[in-house]
Amino acid sequence: MGIKIIATGRYVPERVLTNADLEKMVETSDEWIRTRTGIETRHIADASQATSDMCREAAKKALEMAGIAPSELGAIVVATITPDHSFPNTACLLQEEIGAKNAFCFDLSAACSGLIYSLVTAQALMKMTPNLKYVLVLGAEKLSGIVDWEDRNTCVLFGDGAAAVILEKTDDGNDSIKAYNLGADGACKDILFMPAGGSRMPASLESVQNRKHFINMTGKEVFKFAVNAMVSSSQQAMTDAGVAPDDIKFLVPHQANYRILKAVAQRLDIPEERVYMNLNRYGNTSAASIGLCLDEMVRNNLLQKGDKVLLTAFGGGLTWGSIVLEW
Ligand code: ACO
Repeated sequence: MGIKIIATGRYVPERVLTNADLEKMVETSDEWIRTRTGIETRHIADASQATSDMCREAAKKALEMAGIAPSELGAIVVATITPDHSFPNTACLLQEEIGAKNAFCFDLSAACSGLIYSLVTAQALMKMTPNLKYVLVLGAEKLSGIVDWEDRNTCVLFGDGAAAVILEKTDDGNDSIKAYNLGADGACKDILFMPAGGSRMPASLESVQNRKHFINMTGKEVFKFAVNAMVSSSQQAMTDAGVAPDDIKFLVPHQANYRILKAVAQRLDIPEERVYMNLNRYGNTSAASIGLCLDEMVRNNLLQKGDKVLLTAFGGGLTWGSIVLEW
């Protein structure tokens, strides 16, 4: 039995928010944002668009590439920290939208590491479930709904989007995921979190007035943690897969900040030309970011059979994870 990635898809909203637009909203500059983060534009969902709507568009493209009907999906997993509702889960909403009536559905919350956590979870489920032939995994976020547009420390960083991956169980013994490493450190929960809206601080007039429903981040701490976590996790995944940095055709890191990505690549000894980046166009889309990269790479024919690809991410929790893929 082998579990293979057979298709990808992506969707980003039409509306583009530039650094010049942000200059009119908060005290910032295009130069500051570009040199500190590498971000030039990000896509922002309109008021009527929820995360499941973006999922639907990405899912349709992946289903088309896979050449399968929605009814053939046995499960849907949506990695997100911006679900349409606390419940029902976003995967259930998507199931109805696309008519995937035979799929069981759940969301997975691991912030920016969500897609990596979900791919590993999907593979494990497929290995232990006899009739689970196709699983649809998505990373999708409407971060614009939880960004404080008055806070220049965070609002320049984030964007919206959705990315889909379809896994198929095949008869040969080859898995796309050659090795993985997942980790978490709840002691660092306070450097990246959203204070209100859960059971700890339910929504109230006070929580809204005090702007507690937005991403709260200690940027410098996250930066340091991100580099260390992605480097050690990547090294462990490469060791477990029996590959060296030279064997990696592309490093696909979570698209948080150009300087973080550059530092990770340097410490892993992977030259920058083999690091896939699109954060200049999309900003940080959390769980969607690695999937947006993968779909671009697939549709631009950058990946050939047998290529080794290293995915690595970190996010709120804190969580982190890496996967060595063989295409
Ligand atoms: N425009 C202009 N000035 C700004 C802006 C802005 N948008 N934002 C902050 N500044 C100011 C700060 O106020 C500070 O001013 P001060 O020195 O007068 O206090 C100055 O710029 C320098 O701030 P630093 O914090 O030193 O800037 P730094 O170089 O660390 O960059 C950044 C900040 C971009 C946030 C960086 O720390 C970073 O990328 N951190 C990681 C963020 C990240 O990856 N988050 C992932 C979240 S993903 C998830 O799980 C949802």
